[in-house]
Amino acid sequence: MLNSPIDEIKNRLDIVEVIGSYIKLEKAGANYRAPCPFHSEKKPSFFVSPARQIWHCFGCGLGGDIFKFVMQIDGVEFGDALRILAEKAGVELKRSDPQLNTEKRRLFEICELSCRFFEKQLENSSSGKKAKDYLLKRGLTEESIRKWRLGYAPDRWDSLSNFLISRGYEREEIEKAGLCVKSEKNKSYYDRFRGRIMFPIFNLSSQVIGFGGRISEDREKISKSDEAKYVNTPNTLLYDKSQVLYGLNKAGIEIRKKDFCILVEGYMDAIMVYQAGFENVVAASGTGLSEYQLKILKRYSTNLFTAFDMDIAGDSATKRSINLAQSMGFNIKIIVMPNDMDPADVVLKDSNLWQDLVKNAKTIHDFYFEKILSRFDKTTLEGKKDIYRSLLPIIKNIPDKIEQTLWIKDLADILNVKEEDIAEELKKIPSLTNDRSYNTEDGSFDIMIKEPNFFSSKTKKEILEEYLAIIFFKFPQYVNLLKDGDFQIFSPRFIQVVDYLKNNNISNQENNFSSEYNDLIQHLSFKSEIIEFDVGTDIDNEFNRCLKEIKILNVKDKLNEIGLELKKAEKENDFIRIQRLLEEFNSYSKYLCDLEVS
Ligand code: CTP
Ligand code: MN
Repeated sequence: MLNSPIDEIKNRLDIVEVIGSYIKLEKAGANYRAPCPFHSEKKPSFFVSPARQIWHCFGCGLGGDIFKFVMQIDGVEFGDALRILAEKAGVELKRSDPQLNTEKRRLFEICELSCRFFEKQLENSSSGKKAKDYLLKRGLTEESIRKWRLGYAPDRWDSLSNFLISRGYEREEIEKAGLCVKSEKNKSYYDRFRGRIMFPIFNLSSQVIGFGGRISEDREKISKSDEAKYVNTPNTLLYDKSQVLYGLNKAGIEIRKKDFCILVEGYMDAIMVYQAGFENVVAASGTGLSEYQLKILKRYSTNLFTAFDMDIAGDSATKRSINLAQSMGFNIKIIVMPNDMDPADVVLKDSNLWQDLVKNAKTIHDFYFEKILSRFDKTTLEGKKDIYRSLLPIIKNIPDKIEQTLWIKDLADILNVKEEDIAEELKKIPSLTNDRSYNTEDGSFDIMIKEPNFFSSKTKKEILEEYLAIIFFKFPQYVNLLKDGDFQIFSPRFIQVVDYLKNNNISNQENNFSSEYNDLIQHLSFKSEIIEFDVGTDIDNEFNRCLKEIKILNVKDKLNEIGLELKKAEKENDFIRIQRLLEEFNSYSKYLCDLEVS
């Protein structure tokens, strides 16, 4: 039988290598361990089992196979994880919609080839070399230029198109990839990017999906007003400006590790800040942040440090994004930039200065209060009005009620009015994100993979059964100490586990269990490897105690059950049944007494 692509990928890839390419794993006996990349912790409770090809964090309960790991750490859906790993494994996937996927695939190829073309131009052509000198002058290193795959688009109408056509692509496809434009007048095509420094834009799997092209230095100086500083790929099948965060493919892991994300405006800023060792940086590409982008970021961290140009007056894109982020539950800090400098300038001048700015990032509260108080005069009526008109909309958007009250208090103090009056005014202000609730349970984006749910709701009996299972996995001889009668007290799922241990464990590869049970068995055996009993633990005693506790629980359940039936029988005056039930009750009670003293 032919393997499914999923099995094929699993066969070809080793989980230790895959996970090890994201985080540093340390050997721990037969397994590997690391501090969990999905929750913050000091003592590593994230384990990878090469034997089972699964991972599990015994701290936060996440776990699964390589696909689940990639979904979780790259924040992608299953389909994307499949593609990422298929590529790693060299497995070709059959597409569900061949037409669309062939088209998409060809656009990816065009973007990748174009990126290489631009990279070559930057290295070899004379105007490319000039562009490169400019980048070096701006402080980028050769390594950064290579790493971010910067390039140069020649100042000609058709050089890229000609190159791509020579490689077998059609003009229509090149246009669809956003790399050439069809003129309205004579319906001819010309290259979109001409004489520009090229910043390729990557998706989370580091595939090129679009470009930002910066004007060259000479042209910027001449500064013809009709020439934009940046030309960008328009929305295509691959690229949507409102969905991409520049640099996230590189920064993701570091954002998770540091548990905060630095948000800058420009491509140059992102690269320079990254180069200076602050690798948890992404750029919003000059626009505000969309809800979609914020949802993606939220998978990595809910702490956002913005280094935006923050004009508090008016309704700027920046302010809107900050409000939106705040209402989505992000903690935001503002890196206050020195006048007329952007992060790239600061880093170039002095990376210690940048470090200080990050360290001294202000809370939104402090930032707004300081800014607004320095702008308006709180001693005049007009000034007071300006102050509260600026602050009320901001206060309105604070999702945390306690925090909101604290702001109201501060504002009341400054204006020397009652808090209730401010609260009253606040009611009149429309809220930015009314009716929408954001929380981590927002199902569509937060992919949580929990422990197999057998033990996750964990009644007392389940905890005991799990404990017993761990004893069995560690010391298989105890399975044989179970008596036939014992099976009556176990849950059906636990009986399956015991059956597995009794029979399948040895050699029988074929088993009749559903994948759910297989997961459970994998999980339990993995857990048993991780858990160490204290030295000197009396396993006999643990085994007997566990069994006894489970028996006691069972008898108590049984007694409850009989009690209920008795009540029913009494109501119905069914004396024969009453008699029988009383006898049963007595015998179980006696059994319980015996158990408890044994
Ligand atoms: N931007 C754009 N179109 C423009 C101007 C800017 O798309 N006409 C976007 C780009 O993504 C750019 C970002 O906004 O990176 C920030 O703009 P700006 O600060 O002007 O550019 P920098 O990236 O800082 O470039 P440089 O430092 O080289 O001037
Ligand atoms: Mn800049």
